Amino acid sequence: MSENVIIFDTTLRDGEQSPGASMNTAEKLRIASQLEKLGVGVIEAGFPAASEGDFEAVERIAAKIHGPSIAALCRTTKSDIDRAWNAVKSSPKPRLHTFIATSDIHMAHKLRMNREQVVKAAVEAVRYAGTFTHDIEFSAEDGSRSDRDFLCRIFEAAIEAGATTINLPDTVGYAIPEEFADLVAYLKTHIPNINKAIISVHCHNDLGLATANTLAAIKAGARQAEVTINGIGERAGNTSMEEVVMAINTRIDYMNHVKTNINTSLIYPTSRLVSTISGIMVQPNKAIVGANAFAHEAGIHQDGVLKNPMTYEIMKPETIGLSSNRLILGKHSGRHALNSQLLDMGYNLSEEELNLVFTKFKQLADKKKNLVHEDLESLVTEGILRSSDVFKLEYLHVTSGTTVYPTASVSITINGRSVKCTRDGNGPIDATFNAIEELTRTQSELLRFSVSALTGGTDAQGEVTVRLRENGLIALGRGADPDIIIASAKAYINGLNRLEYLKEHPILTPEVI
Ligand code: KIV
Ligand code: ZN
Repeated sequence: MSENVIIFDTTLRDGEQSPGASMNTAEKLRIASQLEKLGVGVIEAGFPAASEGDFEAVERIAAKIHGPSIAALCRTTKSDIDRAWNAVKSSPKPRLHTFIATSDIHMAHKLRMNREQVVKAAVEAVRYAGTFTHDIEFSAEDGSRSDRDFLCRIFEAAIEAGATTINLPDTVGYAIPEEFADLVAYLKTHIPNINKAIISVHCHNDLGLATANTLAAIKAGARQAEVTINGIGERAGNTSMEEVVMAINTRIDYMNHVKTNINTSLIYPTSRLVSTISGIMVQPNKAIVGANAFAHEAGIHQDGVLKNPMTYEIMKPETIGLSSNRLILGKHSGRHALNSQLLDMGYNLSEEELNLVFTKFKQLADKKKNLVHEDLESLVTEGILRSSDVFKLEYLHVTSGTTVYPTASVSITINGRSVKCTRDGNGPIDATFNAIEELTRTQSELLRFSVSALTGGTDAQGEVTVRLRENGLIALGRGADPDIIIASAKAYINGLNRLEYLKEHPILTPEVI
């Protein structure tokens, strides 16, 4: 019988720690509902003690998403565990995930605790968590750089205290696959009560080895993989869900016939959704979900693929939900067709929300003939998920050309109050940004600006992403429109709104955590 590998998705917790990727509660709920459809076993919804925003998101997700287990992260203190439990308790399958560092370097310099104290803190935390739920995960932070026998000791004690999952993180992305697999095998054979817990692994991608380490660990006996969609996460990111799942599926024989419960045909739509909401673009050559992942440029490859796709394609694009027969809506499509497509995508909109999206849909269909999934996704993200935004674009008129000085007239609402002004600039985008900066009275620094096409075709929507910094806070902004100046204005305003959100929802800094 094939064994199951639990997919534990931490896009909303570790993934959200990607610089600038903060998401509001509506956006997190939308992603959580997609993860449920995708078939993940556990959603780590946040770190409730880190911010009010995290607490609220975990609470809402726990109350609404009933398929997967919902995990809340907490340190080993009682106050953290209480906060995590209060956020997650309405889930039918609540999990408390407590962690403490176990490497000598972290214990000495970060925690300033000795081994005895760390074991005691872990055991007390697991016991206390056990007064709330039986589903308890214990993580040994910086596990891959910890002393093996100390790891065995603390995991044994955590299991004895009630932990049902023990997680081995490669926190700094330092491990090498063979060595990491060997460590998992060591834990399996040297922890006497290991049969009472599931071994989990959690890898970071600093050396580009997160997927390789995760797969090696699964081969050695780990049965939970902690991953994020598109591999987003701090620094070089976390293990990418799509890579692990497709490697298991494609190399099922090599992977000892383990399986996951992931509905692979939802991998591509989920990747797009996370990229649209987080503002983090997927690099074109990213395995599985990058724009070029299934594109064959070389003549010899194209010839082979035409004769038999399996000559050069180890996976079928349809398996991950990349199909050329995509449902297309146009300006003659009615509200009913739009609504049924949105329901299919997981959006159950109220009458009022549907009216708003339908108006935007008609406006877009006037500019672009065929609207596909990505177009609808960006309409809903901009129109509904960010409806609580402080700044909203009302109107934009730009003049520019070879013989005129670029000027932009912009009108925005600030908490519903309309303001407008006209400014010039070096080019139409500079003029637009100057006007927006003036109106919003913000002083962010534009760190990055990039444009790409949302889909193929000359009428494709331009997708702009910006990275902004203000008083040490970093936010990404994203906007899409067939007109790239409008897309740029939307992206800038989206970034400013995210900065506002961060100002209102301060997150504990890593030094405090
Ligand atoms: O990378 C890490 O060590 C973590 C733990 C909190 C699991 O994210
Ligand atoms: Zn991590």
